[in-house]
Amino acid sequence: MDALHAYLEKNKDRFLEELFELLKIPSVSADPAFKDDVFEAAEFVRSRLEEAGAENTEVCPTEGYPIVYGEKMVDESAPTVLVYGHYDVQPADPYELWETPPFEPVIRNGAIYARGSSDDKGQMYMHIKALELMLATDVLKCNVKFMIEGEEEVGSASLGQFVKDNKERLAADVVLISDTALISMEHPSITVGLRGLSYMEVKVTGPNRDLHSGIYGGAVANPANVLSEMIAQLKDDDKRIRIPGFYDRVDELSAEERAAMAEIPFDLEAFKSELGIPDVEGEKGYSTIERTSIRPALDVNGIWGGYTGEGAKTVIPSEASAKISMRLVPHQRSEEISALFEKYIKSIAPPSVRVEVSSLHGGEPVVTPVDSVAYRAASKAMESTFGKKPIPYRSGGSIPIVPMFEELLGLKSILMGFGLDTDAIHSPNEHFGLINFFKGIETIPYFYRYYAEMHGRSK
Ligand code: BES
Ligand code: MN
Ligand code: MN
Repeated sequence: MDALHAYLEKNKDRFLEELFELLKIPSVSADPAFKDDVFEAAEFVRSRLEEAGAENTEVCPTEGYPIVYGEKMVDESAPTVLVYGHYDVQPADPYELWETPPFEPVIRNGAIYARGSSDDKGQMYMHIKALELMLATDVLKCNVKFMIEGEEEVGSASLGQFVKDNKERLAADVVLISDTALISMEHPSITVGLRGLSYMEVKVTGPNRDLHSGIYGGAVANPANVLSEMIAQLKDDDKRIRIPGFYDRVDELSAEERAAMAEIPFDLEAFKSELGIPDVEGEKGYSTIERTSIRPALDVNGIWGGYTGEGAKTVIPSEASAKISMRLVPHQRSEEISALFEKYIKSIAPPSVRVEVSSLHGGEPVVTPVDSVAYRAASKAMESTFGKKPIPYRSGGSIPIVPMFEELLGLKSILMGFGLDTDAIHSPNEHFGLINFFKGIETIPYFYRYYAEMHGRSK
């Protein structure tokens, strides 16, 4: 591995320059204004993959944004690793809260500041550079396939079909993903669970136009009031979700499992101060770590209606809306939860308004094994570079493709992420530590090495 380290040291600056180029492309999948940029990012990834030594690279068209494919097959008898990542990013709004512009990457306080630096361009690019490293030093003993998509941040609508149509091409032994976070640099970790998602929109309509709030106020249902009242009925005083049937399938953890979770290093005071909140809040009877991992959650993501401009306008809005997401845990099912939500919302709607509910996107929760050859290889790889055995822990975020890989390809995933929860992903001033970027590039080759060794032995 010495040649590998030498190669990394020698090429660090170039690796960063290349990543910066990618970060400069505003590949925001949610906003059609950036359509050309998203395509440009796809081609950028493809050509860098090819330069790194991947073969059969292709920008594969889909009904939405393309999926970038590339592979390096070294030995028929060796195991095959399918690397997944995404080159699309979240919208950068609100721009005015960025200290430096989101698509002009800079290094500040030892971190790369740019939209997508941590989620997921920086983490995905580590894998391309690790491939270059392994091929340049001739140490790669696994077959590698890359599948990098451009619609992750908008629900991966085209990915399922692509996977179904390309089962042969994507055949592998395990999926490797860096799109999650470490507990901290001092406490390396491997993510072994992700929450699912049901994302809903609720629209409440009252009168056929905005009304004078003096002439009509008190006699006509106000959609903004009604929507707020309905949202208030989604949780009880213990912050439990009141949707009937919501918890029916929730997998309750054993006392031993919860005791193990309590061992995960977590500093509540640091958590509060980093977020600038006077206190935490959540379901009664559960710790903060449990609330963000093994317990479901329900949050309003956006709410609007009526007059929000300068000064006062006396008006009863004609309509009001909210986007509401629910994070799901094993063995809840996204479609079922969305249906239960709709039924409940409609049941609590007063007869004075009309309510429309739609489901925007969803994804299933997943737990990945800790007793597999691939997990042991990932654990040993991180131990080699962090000097500490990584802690398996469940994350609260969602990557809907992970359960889909299980269902469609029969493949388990290794969620070896190198970000930090404090990277401000999806927020202004997203950043990714230089240390994290290079640690990732350093750790990935160890994974391939140990996986090839252990895989051979387990046969
Ligand atoms: N990389 C994140 C998911 C993530 C982040 C998992 C940190 C664990 C720790 C991913 O890009 C993401 O943002 N996913 C979305 C879901 C998607 C369907 C829009 C999410 O979790 O909101
Ligand atoms: Mn991501
Ligand atoms: Mn994301």
